[in-house]
Amino acid sequence: MAGVILVTAICIVGIALGIGCVPSFAQSVAFDQNYIVIGGTDDHVKKLEGGLTVQLILDQTSASGFASKNRYLFGHITMKIKLVPDDSAGTVTAFYASSESSNHDELDFEFLGNSSGQPYMLQTNVFANGIGNKEQRIYLWFDPTADFHTYAFLWNQQQVIFQVDDVPVRVFKNNEAQGLAYPSSQAMRIYSTLWNGDSWATRGGAVKLNWTHAPFIATYQDFSVDACQWSDSGSSACATSNSWWNQVNFQTLDSKSQSQLKWVQQKYMVYDYCTDTERFSAAPTECTLR
Ligand SMILES: *[C@@H]1O[C@H](CO)[C@@H](O)[C@H](O)[C@H]1NC(C)=O
Ligand SMILES: *[C@@H]1O[C@H](CO)[C@@H](O)[C@H](O)[C@H]1NC(C)=O
Repeated sequence: MAGVILVTAICIVGIALGIGCVPSFAQSVAFDQNYIVIGGTDDHVKKLEGGLTVQLILDQTSASGFASKNRYLFGHITMKIKLVPDDSAGTVTAFYASSESSNHDELDFEFLGNSSGQPYMLQTNVFANGIGNKEQRIYLWFDPTADFHTYAFLWNQQQVIFQVDDVPVRVFKNNEAQGLAYPSSQAMRIYSTLWNGDSWATRGGAVKLNWTHAPFIATYQDFSVDACQWSDSGSSACATSNSWWNQVNFQTLDSKSQSQLKWVQQKYMVYDYCTDTERFSAAPTECTLR
């Protein structure tokens, strides 16, 4: 409804400016168009406003989740999320894209909850050809429970940019030429899940989930998908398409994005596997190449 009003307003402005009316408007895409419920019983995925807003619910009976109907190879995979408010300690809200093979590729945002008033942590990770172990962790520069924010993977042949409200918080580059795995051929489904991760999520597992504060609720909007839809008949179309995310200006970070990334790394990063010498006696090869 709000989406419909917005589209109408944009059409009026568009017609006034002589650029016509393009009603391909993100807010107007409802859940059922691109997504289905996966984890949890149906009442743990609550559709509001005709599916324009959806809530994932975690309580003692069930975790919950949803997945995209289609698989995609490259694109801009986005979601607007308002995270579990107040006491979210022990909860993990994951937004990720993953392929389905035994040597799968995966791109991860994992939001680690916290006690009331304490900051969420955002963990990112990449699996390429079945191998993960590439965690980074940052704090956010805003309260992610107060409002919707957009979390996104800009994924093409050259790099994956992890974005928070268009600010790059991580870049994973294609180093296949150096013999390293990169998610370049397996189509991925898009997922979000909300579950109990209290064995590890909050202060390393020291703070447990408090069920008297259930239900824990994460809220989602904008179920559009701007990515290359995979069909089993072939992948070459996605790899060679001239979609906007494949254009030259998205193949490297421009100088503004580079300084934004540096700002995030200097001010908000709390963990980087690249500098964890206890875990990796020699820095993983991709860390020396970026
Ligand atoms: C939770 O808050 C504590 C104290 O501010 C902080 O050390 C920790 O990194 C926060 N996040 C998580 C997920 O533990
Ligand atoms: C769980 O929350 C209840 C209600 O706020 C509180 O009384 C109780 O102490 C909490 N339990 C733990 C283990 O913190």
